[in-house]
Amino acid sequence: MRTVPVLILLCAMHGAAAAAEPPPAAAACIECHAREYQRTSVPQLEGQHAAYLRMELTHFREKHRRAFPMDQIAQDLDDADIEALADWFSRQPWGAWRFAADPARVAEGAQLVDRFQCAACHGAGFTGTEVIPRTAGQNPVYLARQLRAFSRGDRYHPPTGTGARMFRLSEAEVESLALFLAQMPAP
Ligand code: HEC
Ligand code: HEC
Repeated sequence: MRTVPVLILLCAMHGAAAAAEPPPAAAACIECHAREYQRTSVPQLEGQHAAYLRMELTHFREKHRRAFPMDQIAQDLDDADIEALADWFSRQPWGAWRFAADPARVAEGAQLVDRFQCAACHGAGFTGTEVIPRTAGQNPVYLARQLRAFSRGDRYHPPTGTGARMFRLSEAEVESLALFLAQMPAP
């Protein structure tokens, strides 16, 4: 009978952790990244996997991933900041981006995702895991920018499930893939 109060306590603690105040370093991030702003090319971080956020912030700091303004902002973060930021953002609920997608492009994107076997890593619902990012419900303009960066070789992405290189993507494929991923329901 002791398990019930323990479970209630654990749930209450989880709720408290999600609602906890952001770490001080997050104030500057939220100015751009707060989901309610839905800014053109700014991705949502709330609910993204902690391991992925940690990896990207480290890549920005070490200039392995170059993208204005993040490669500069990350210079001011030490390992403890990165840990606290990744932990806090990952505990916030993931949302869905609000936008209108052309159904024909979405259908084309769905076919491309099947053809390239993108779900092999990102998961059937594109929720990702660990260092594989969630992309379902992410900002479509941001996603398209990343897919273009992959196809130009400006940002690293592993070969797709079929072994095809992301740098073979055409602009039409980029647009359809981004819209398909962005309109997927947020888990
Ligand atoms: C001036 C606006 C601005 C501020 C401030 C800012 N960011 Fe960003 N951030 C961006 C933009 C724009 C991108 C997309 C860059 C790109 O196109 O690759 C981004 C990308 C990211 C990404 C990559 C997300 C992904 O899915 O790969 C992470 C992680 C991130 N920011 C974390 C932070 C953190 C943590 C802070 C605070 C220390 C912060 N950002 C402050 C604008 C900002
Ligand atoms: C072999 C596993 C694998 C496959 C297959 C795969 N991905 Fe990825 N994807 C990753 C990993 C790992 C990352 C993070 C890369 C990094 O920053 O180091 C990523 C990152 C991304 C991002 C960036 C998200 C963000 O928040 O910045 C997008 C968009 C994406 N993948 C789309 C796709 C699409 C579309 C396909 C199919 C054409 C695909 N992926 C297939 C592993 C995979």
